Amino acid sequence: MDYNDLKIPTHVAIIVDGNGRWARDRGLPRIKGHDAGFDNLKKISKYILNKGIKVLSLYCFSTENFKREKKEVDHLMDLFLIMFKKEANFFNENNIKVVFSGGDEPLPKKVISARDKLVEMTKNNTGGILNICLNYGGRREIVDATKKIIHDNLKEEDITEDLFKKYLYNELPDVDLMIRTSGECRLSNFLLWELSYAELYFPKVKFPDFSESDFDEAIIVYNGRDRRFGGIKK
Ligand code: IPE
Ligand code: IPE
Ligand code: MG
Repeated sequence: MDYNDLKIPTHVAIIVDGNGRWARDRGLPRIKGHDAGFDNLKKISKYILNKGIKVLSLYCFSTENFKREKKEVDHLMDLFLIMFKKEANFFNENNIKVVFSGGDEPLPKKVISARDKLVEMTKNNTGGILNICLNYGGRREIVDATKKIIHDNLKEEDITEDLFKKYLYNELPDVDLMIRTSGECRLSNFLLWELSYAELYFPKVKFPDFSESDFDEAIIVYNGRDRRFGGIKK
């Protein structure tokens, strides 16, 4: 699709959802759905960042996802390790700068170190930012920011929205378009601060099947939205 005559969001965020149901639909174990979802992550990230979107945030693992069975969590951690280590060259080949949002505990140490190496390895890339939300919770991000502010001994009169934003995991522009695949219409603790004025879009397609043309459709829907930010329509 030709994006030239369209409004392009600066920051797109995706809740990568429906891997388990995608597998169930095919009579496969849930982990096969995660394998298929991970294959799609690279393809779709490259496509989106090539279209002039500056920042893509992907919700890949929430703080709450540790409640799942150990076998499923372990498999997901293995997939992250593959993505951050074995497939790390993909990000440099495509000039993608990778950053992460999320806490350390209780991630396995090897995932933390592979994560940090990937950030270091891609820090000079200029072809778009991929913000991987791993062990991420929106409430935890706000609590963590508050702790850092207290640690820095800031005074009540110093606290503004702009200052608070600087204490979030990364200083990124607000999200313009948030897509959650699989038909679920909820935020599940994703980017609570950053989504304040985002346009929300909930396609039915499950993430392993979310294609380039599904993303094009999201951009068309976004172009039909009237963003007013509390003002009056002209
Ligand atoms: C999203 O797919 C991936 C993660 C949460 C890690 P799910 O695993 O939530 O898939 P469903 O929602 O059960 O289909
Ligand atoms: C949200 O999806 C987290 C990620 C996609 C990483 P979930 O599948 O965990 O959310 P709920 O449980 O349906 O709200
Ligand atoms: Mg889910």
